[in-house]
Amino acid sequence: MSASRRRLFVTTALPYANGPFHIGHIMEYIQADVWVRAQRMGGHEVHFVCADDAHGAPIMLKAESEGVTPQALVACVAATRPKHLAGFRIGFDHWHSTDSPENVELSQDIYRKLKSAGLIEARTIEQFYDPVKAMFLPDRYIKGECPKCGAADQYGDACENCSSVYSPTDLKKPYSALSGATPVLRTSEHHFFRLSDPACVAFLRDWALGDRLQPEVANKAREWLDAGGKGLADWDISRDAPYFGIPIPDAPGKYFYVWLDAPVGYLASLKAHLRDRGADFAAFLADPAVEQVHFIGKDIVYHHTLFWPAMLKFAGAPYKVPDRVHVHGFITFSGEKMSKSRGTGISPDVYLDLGLDPEWLRYYLAAKLNGRVEDLDFNPDDFLARVNSDLVGKYVNIASRAAPFLTRHFDGRIATPSENAAARAERRAAARAGAEAARANYEAREYGRVMRDAMRVADRLNEAFDAAQPWLLAKDPARRDELQTICSQSLLGFLQLTVTLAPVLPGLASRVARELFGLGRELTWDDAALEPATVNPFRHLMQRIDPKQIDALLEGPKAALSPSPPAPLPADAGRGGVAAPLSRTAGEGPGVRESDAPTIAIDDFAKVDLRIARIVNAEQVEGADKLVKLTLDVGEGRHRTVFAGIKAAYRPEDLVGRLTPMVANLAPRKMKFGVSEGMVLAASGDGPGVYLLAPDTGAQPGMKVK
Ligand code: MSP
Ligand code: ZN
Repeated sequence: MSASRRRLFVTTALPYANGPFHIGHIMEYIQADVWVRAQRMGGHEVHFVCADDAHGAPIMLKAESEGVTPQALVACVAATRPKHLAGFRIGFDHWHSTDSPENVELSQDIYRKLKSAGLIEARTIEQFYDPVKAMFLPDRYIKGECPKCGAADQYGDACENCSSVYSPTDLKKPYSALSGATPVLRTSEHHFFRLSDPACVAFLRDWALGDRLQPEVANKAREWLDAGGKGLADWDISRDAPYFGIPIPDAPGKYFYVWLDAPVGYLASLKAHLRDRGADFAAFLADPAVEQVHFIGKDIVYHHTLFWPAMLKFAGAPYKVPDRVHVHGFITFSGEKMSKSRGTGISPDVYLDLGLDPEWLRYYLAAKLNGRVEDLDFNPDDFLARVNSDLVGKYVNIASRAAPFLTRHFDGRIATPSENAAARAERRAAARAGAEAARANYEAREYGRVMRDAMRVADRLNEAFDAAQPWLLAKDPARRDELQTICSQSLLGFLQLTVTLAPVLPGLASRVARELFGLGRELTWDDAALEPATVNPFRHLMQRIDPKQIDALLEGPKAALSPSPPAPLPADAGRGGVAAPLSRTAGEGPGVRESDAPTIAIDDFAKVDLRIARIVNAEQVEGADKLVKLTLDVGEGRHRTVFAGIKAAYRPEDLVGRLTPMVANLAPRKMKFGVSEGMVLAASGDGPGVYLLAPDTGAQPGMKVK
């Protein structure tokens, strides 16, 4: 679609490796992932990388308090990454760590080059020392009043209120956050990056112009550069031992401050990624066509618009300065800041464990994201409404209504015999224009616009479908052409919409391409005006959100306490595919909406490993009003624990010895009372009763149910 093939090196901020992802990280990754996918759909070459930001005092101190090495702590956190990245369909090409040989090499190389350029200077400074803890205090462990705006309880390196960056000795009324002691000043030799050098300032002023930065970000950068006429302060890039970091060459006992080696981690990750692909790092960066694009949040603009470009510029070849820095705002919850202690916010872990569809969140965030540095509010009611009425009710609905007519009456053949040549040309042109507008809006990170445009198109398609009344046409053999035309137009419109939504809904789009239209590949921008000859029988694409799922999500991990009542099949919409529970087939007729009742293929059923289990023990669970803890023998030489919500219907002692079918390959689920390793099956209706299933005599534990 675009004339020349771009070569893109795209990153997101490296998360601190002292804990698992929070939803703010996921939001950033989704924003970047959507952008990357939109580029890939245009055939561009993209290298999308990230890494754990492993170094620094907080990780060192946390490891110390847990009695492990910092490396072990980082490894533990790193092990949690794949689940979340795969779970939310975030397609990084490589995930690395700043605590890696590549990063040591690159950080030291950049430092040496800056030193040769005369931009590193050693100076003896006075620094806060905690007399109780017997160490120099890391910036984050000194708190006090912001020297610029006077806000209380600010950290020693930057103010969360006015975003200014300063040195800890500038703080008013300082205290040690480690011991509470008033810190004392001690001298130590530190290494500084001479950002105040006129060459640096001149370069940065120039760099901050042009279209590299959003206007509001560029203004902020210029404000910092001027600093009321005082210019930039030099940047202290060294820390004294004990410190978890990269040693500074030729300076025993000195380490790079974590913010020196953290952005270098972008390059370390790229280097490792390129090496894996047999490509050369220096040659890649030397290609003038390569664009280096960073996605970051608003709190780390200073580091990415001043320190980082200056480091790269004055280190020289093979490094190149960033071409774009894309800054986003913060995610808030019903207007409040996310906070673990106050329990506001949602946990990515809980979201996935509850089996919520990752593409619901991707769609919702996309609908609210734009190219400006604005905070984005997650509002549960809004989330439910947008997914259920827009995404499912408008968009998915088109296919679920139109496809069955073509399958039933035309062997799935797509054709528009009643459409004249002009209308056909106009429809194709509109499809191409729609895709081009979407592509341009993705490029500008105006995802909300793409979603709004798509929903307008969906409205028009639904209106045209309703107006044509295909359910009446289907009864009149003389109007077959009209029936085939309106249903085909709807489906082709649906395909076009799927192309425009594909960066946001990669799993769904892939299924539409492969299963519904049998394309055997992923969609590209050029597919917007594609007119496949046939459509395959429609299979359920996406469920609506059940308000109960939102309640569980907001309750957090506690939610796993009250398991959903025994269901016939596990809802695993959050993993692998866009699977959904058994439900009815979407049919024909005006009122038929995308229901949660698809027909499934035998392969879908085969995914469920149903086994006979013997209940070898059953007991009450203290503190749980619905649960019974079952110990099951599934013939595997070990016992499994399953928590079942059947307390109202059975006394535990009556269950012992019984045989019952269970889902043996359900992902283990962590509950307050322990891990549940499967699910037993029971029948229930609208009334209160719950009836455990039982096999006929002769069945043995471990037997497969098919
Ligand atoms: N380790 C540094 C970045 C080094 S980059 C060379 C860091 N880590 S972080 O884990 O605190 O933040 C990582 C990213 O998440 C940052 O871009 C930050 O802005 C973003 N977010 C943190 N909280 C956020 C929200 N509540 N909402 C959206 N993004 C947020 O900073
Ligand atoms: Zn301040």
